[in-house]
Order: sequence, then C-alpha cells, then structure tokens
Amino acid sequence: MKPKISRRTFLKTTLGTILATGLPVFSLPHALSKQKRTVREFRFSASKARVNLGIGPDFVAWTYNGEIPGPEVRVREGEIIRVVLKNYLPEGTTIHWHGVPVPVAMDGVPEVTQKAVMPGQTFVYEFEARPAGSYIYHSHVNYQLDQGLYGALIIEPAHQQDRYDREYTLLLEDWVMRDGGGVANTRRRPPMGMMMHGMRRRRRSSGPSRGPLLEPVYDGYAVNGRVYPEVKPLMVGKGDRVKLRILNASSATIYDLCLAGHTLTITHVDGNPIQPVETDVLRIGMGERYDVEFVANNPGTWLLAARERGFGEGALRIPIQYRGVRRKEPVPPIFHRGLRFATYWDFQTLHPSDKSVSEPAHRFYPQTLSGGMHSPFWTINGQVYPNAERLVVREGERVRIGYLNHSMMPHPMHLHGHFFKVVNPSLSPERWILKDTIIVNPMQRIEIEFLADNPGNWFHHCHNLYHMEAGMANVVVYQPE
Ligand code: C2O
Ligand code: CU
Repeated sequence: MKPKISRRTFLKTTLGTILATGLPVFSLPHALSKQKRTVREFRFSASKARVNLGIGPDFVAWTYNGEIPGPEVRVREGEIIRVVLKNYLPEGTTIHWHGVPVPVAMDGVPEVTQKAVMPGQTFVYEFEARPAGSYIYHSHVNYQLDQGLYGALIIEPAHQQDRYDREYTLLLEDWVMRDGGGVANTRRRPPMGMMMHGMRRRRRSSGPSRGPLLEPVYDGYAVNGRVYPEVKPLMVGKGDRVKLRILNASSATIYDLCLAGHTLTITHVDGNPIQPVETDVLRIGMGERYDVEFVANNPGTWLLAARERGFGEGALRIPIQYRGVRRKEPVPPIFHRGLRFATYWDFQTLHPSDKSVSEPAHRFYPQTLSGGMHSPFWTINGQVYPNAERLVVREGERVRIGYLNHSMMPHPMHLHGHFFKVVNPSLSPERWILKDTIIVNPMQRIEIEFLADNPGNWFHHCHNLYHMEAGMANVVVYQPE
C-alpha cells in the first residue's frame, strides 16, 4: 500500500527507523565481512494491479507491491540491500539496479546474467549499496518497464553532508492509461523519419504486431505515479535550500525541464558529484538521473515543467508551493530563447583524479547507431541484438567506445556494471565526468571510456525501451586472462 504520508515524513520515518533500531548510520570499512553490515531487506511482489494516475481511467498495470511506481528503496552507502522478489506475473521477470555497479549475478538481465524469475518463483537480490547516488531499479524483461515495473533507488552518503533543507525524489514516467500499460492495445508513434516528412498522423495498431513495436503514443506523463494537476506539490519554505533527485524512468521520453521563478543548480549527474553548474533548462534522457538544488527565494506557486517537444510531454508538471503563501494557479516556466541550457560539456567532476591518463585506451570500439527510417529495427554497427558482435575486454583495461549517431533520433546509451567517463576534449581527463547513461543526439559523435574493473557479461544498449527491444543492444564480455 502506498503510505499516505508526505515524502518528508517518509524520509524522517525511514531515517528514524534506522536510528531507533540502533543500526549504524555510518559506513563500515570495505574489508569488513558482510555479516557485520546492516542488511536492509525489502519484499517485492511483482503482480498486476488496478491503478490510477490521479486523472484518467483506472487501468491494470504491472507493479511491485501493487504500487506505481514501485516502493522507493532508500538505504545508506555501505549497507547491504536485499530484495526478495516474488513473481505473481504471468511471465518471467527480473530486477535490474540501473547504474549501480553490482556483481554481475545481481544485474538482472535475462539470458545475460540470470534466468528470468518465472511465475511463482522467488529470487533474492543482494548487493552492497555503493556508491552513494540516485538510481532507478526496473525489470529488464520485454516491455515490462513500460508496464510499470520500476522505482527509485536512493543510496544516501555514509556521512550526510546536509547542505539542503528539503529533499524530494521525482520519478518521471510516461504512461499509456490502458490495461497492460504501454504495450497492449495502443496507438503507435510514427517513426521520426516519417514525422520529419510531414506524416504526423497517428495510426492505430491492430492486434499483436509482428516484430518489434513502435513507441506508443503516451497519454499520461506522471511524476511519482500522478499526473498534473494531481501531482503532489513540493512544499518549500522561504529561504530553504531544496534538493531534487530527478530520475527519468520513462521508456521513451526525453524531457527538457525548467522551473519558473528559480535557477536550478546541477550537483550530480547519474549520482556522481560534479562542480555545481547553474542552468535554466535541464535535459534528462531515459535512465538518466540528475540531482539539482534551488534556493526557495521567490515565494509563490510555481511549476517545474517540461517543454512540449511534440508528443505531449509538456503535460509533465510539478507544482512548487511555498508554505504560508496562498495557493493560486501555478506560474509555468516560459521556454524563451536565451535560457541557459547546460550540457554535458559544461560539467566537470567534483573529484578530479590526481593521476592523469595520457596513454591511449587499450581498446576502442566504434559504435554506429542507426535504423528506424525504413526498418522496424534499431541497430549498432548495422547489427540487431542478439545477432550482435560482443565487445571483448580484459580486466584492468581502459576501454573506449566511440558513438556515432547515424539516425534521426537521440539515443540514451547505457552501459551496465560500470560508470564511464565522458570524453571531453576541452578538459583534461582527470576532470571528465562519470556517468552510466548518455544521450547521443542525431549526427553527434561522443566518446566514453571505462575501466574494466567488474568482470562479467554486461548489457550495453539504448535506453529507449523500444529501440532496445528492436535490436539496439550488445554485450560487453570479459575475457579470462
Ligand atoms: Cu536501465 Cu539495461 O537498463
Ligand atoms: Cu535509441
């Protein structure tokens, strides 16, 4: 059941529980055995449930514990997360801990790291919560992510810095408000190429399609399971420093967000601290997470809202309400030219490593992203997963991947099991930011580099669920010495 308490109360309660039970709120040295660590156990039942986004019809979604989104998992760095997953769904399922460099057996990718947990079965995920940051968990089977199987995973730092007065988690979701979520009985977006040629008409699909699905036309852009105006306002007090953890759990929607009346300061990208950067517009792709802060210095009722980019995502709106200020129609942001729009190239890591790497990487894998125009498939180097070349690495190597997006759509590329550095030629390497998901825009080239320090087979794919399922994926494999 969804607790009928505010986020703030919930936060307090969670922390209160830790304190009240006398569990350590500091992290233990890495070398200590698991038995000495605090184990935080969560029970997840994956099942269908009737849900409602606050407006619109009731419909049947696929859920954890009957809730959308799934329960927020909030732990402290160094604790052990144990999630007991029981599958009451009609098909196999898994949980992937998006962004967390877990041991490979816990990574939750069917056929790559584990067998899907079949109906009636139970599987126990257990791993160390590290490093601190904002993450998403989600099913990695078929289209289950778009049917509701996801939630927020927050790992708080072992030593709380407490630079802010309030904190909110905002999980961004795109929904089709029909039984089965995005994949059943829905209309499909025409491919971008067709749109570009003036075919904006939306077609109705008939019956189960053969081959990969096109993206649905979403009719609900929700925040924490609610659609505006039913989104719970973020309450702030004048003078508060407010932290927002913005997590994009959508299957196929990139948002440009802007907060009316305030400036956002980006402090973390995909959980990793950066030198704070001020921006008016924040672009967030599927699978990306941004921690931002703002100072509540402009009393009133405001909207944090998405720019309309053609599919209705402008409906994503979150009210900000000052305490003690009479509630009125919230003021929306105006997306005029001249707004500051921070990009990856404006960011540098908060903790530059001291040794700068000058030698070239041990491996280079060019990855041309393509497809979509006249084909139902999305490809890497012309290949459709699972018929895709594997990226072979050895432990200890530095591996560089060079993306070239040769298509008309942006692709948020995600690597499992590792953070990668985003190669930024105008910065020295020790200042490059760490991420695990990166948007590659049409016709753009981006290079990333990671240290092969987590042996296993790791999925690497576009985080547009419909592109991933249509082939835009491959696997990084570690070769034994
Ligand atoms: Cu959110 Cu394969 O990942
Ligand atoms: Cu894609």
